[in-house]
Amino acid sequence: MSSNGNGDRPDLADVTFDMWIKIDGIISEYKGKPGATIPVLRKCQDTVGYLPRPLIDYVARRMGMPRSEVYGVATFYALFTLQPKGRHCIKACEGTACYVRGIKEVVGRIKDKYKVGFGETTEDRRFSLESVRCLGACGLAPVVVVDSDTHGGMTPDKVTQVLEHYK
Ligand code: FES
Repeated sequence: MSSNGNGDRPDLADVTFDMWIKIDGIISEYKGKPGATIPVLRKCQDTVGYLPRPLIDYVARRMGMPRSEVYGVATFYALFTLQPKGRHCIKACEGTACYVRGIKEVVGRIKDKYKVGFGETTEDRRFSLESVRCLGACGLAPVVVVDSDTHGGMTPDKVTQVLEHYK
């Protein structure tokens, strides 16, 4: 481990030099304090937008904590995301009404066409896909929400038409 914090920084395209300075500041502020893992990870995530795995390793090393412990926290809490978010967030409703009216086929098309699974982001960072339980719009089932737009009556063909509007 280097003493100035520069030598052991992993090479991460999403983390700029200024972000590293901020991250090192966060670590120095919390190092050795009890209950530091959550606030440190949260602030690192606020800085970068998500928690790349090599960054979690770096935080563990610099905090002098076991890697498994820091990973445990990062993967346990829904607040943390280890994947970059897409420019657009697709929420597919898997509640009962949407389920019986065919959300599974709609989701199947999204997964096939954009090569993305639940909790993942497409390689081009265009979409992130999430599963949710009842969006309170059961009358429109099956429902997909893209960013803050609700799209009801989805079919596999309709959903691809809708998503093509989100670049
Ligand atoms: S079950 Fe999908 S909106 Fe209610």
